[in-house]
Amino acid sequence: MDQALSYYLEQGQTLVNAYLHDYISEKPIHSNLKKSMLYSIHAGGKRLRPILMMAACEAFGGNKKEVLPVAAALEMIHTYSLIHDDLPAMDDDDMRRGQPTNHRKFDEATAILAGDALLTLSFQAIMEAEQLSVEQKVHLVQQLSTASGALGMVAGQLMDMESEGKAITLEDLEQIHHLKTGKLLSFALMAGAYIGGASEQQLQSIKETADLLGIIFQIQDDILDVSGNEEKLGKPVGSDSTNHKSTYPSMLGLEGSVTQKEHYVAQAKSALKQADVEETKLFILIDHLSNRDH
Ligand code: IPE
Ligand code: IPE
Ligand code: MG
Ligand code: MG
Ligand code: MG
Repeated sequence: MDQALSYYLEQGQTLVNAYLHDYISEKPIHSNLKKSMLYSIHAGGKRLRPILMMAACEAFGGNKKEVLPVAAALEMIHTYSLIHDDLPAMDDDDMRRGQPTNHRKFDEATAILAGDALLTLSFQAIMEAEQLSVEQKVHLVQQLSTASGALGMVAGQLMDMESEGKAITLEDLEQIHHLKTGKLLSFALMAGAYIGGASEQQLQSIKETADLLGIIFQIQDDILDVSGNEEKLGKPVGSDSTNHKSTYPSMLGLEGSVTQKEHYVAQAKSALKQADVEETKLFILIDHLSNRDH
């Protein structure tokens, strides 16, 4: 990996890790609940969503530290979604981020509640952010609740479960990816740009790129579930085929999936160019999301 990119990723991880740790640790949360929340928060996630938010903020002239409460909130929701995604009633996976999944380390009830607690604490973190105006908080909470809930990630997760063992169309699959993964990634880019000072018109013009990021990200996730390295990934490979999921590789084959992903990468970059966003880090991050090996 390019040294400048790896430095940028590390810097972003350090900032968001510290923020998450301090924010959660300082709250008077029931000790077993806090232990379970911090276990998954600190299990070694890549923090790609927070980093994307920081890069988008910088692209519009902001300072990346401005997004920290919102980046931490998004990472809490993402982490909750993974805790619940791994539960026996859902994907039934035993490893996550290189460690036993939350329900394996603790128990199912604790894992469900740690997820619930992270979800709700995320909105509290935005409301308690000192550097955001009331207007910004209202906008961000409205956007994040839409992206993560019944109109976003949660709906995508239900459609993903319903499609197990069924023949679905590529269009259906794209819609599932768009909701279950795309909505949160899109929020990362849009919120970063918003906090960085992008105008309404600029926000409109980066929307196409934001919407493509999740599809690109989930196609690569599906590819890695077939051909990735379990140790690097920190989660089992083959989970999708065990659960009879419809995925890009199961529908288009590995080569077809790569071709499709590259098509979307080109589209995402060209949309970003048309939006007159020159920030090279965003282009580099799109390639990184697409080509990551874990
Ligand atoms: C995994 O997300 C779940 C998907 C939405 C595909 P990440 O690959 O970002 O997982 P972590 O946060 O690094 O563990
Ligand atoms: C889940 O997708 C995406 C979420 C919204 C949690 P996957 O089920 O493919 O994620 P992994 O592969 O378990 O990380
Ligand atoms: Mg899943
Ligand atoms: Mg899963
Ligand atoms: Mg997966």
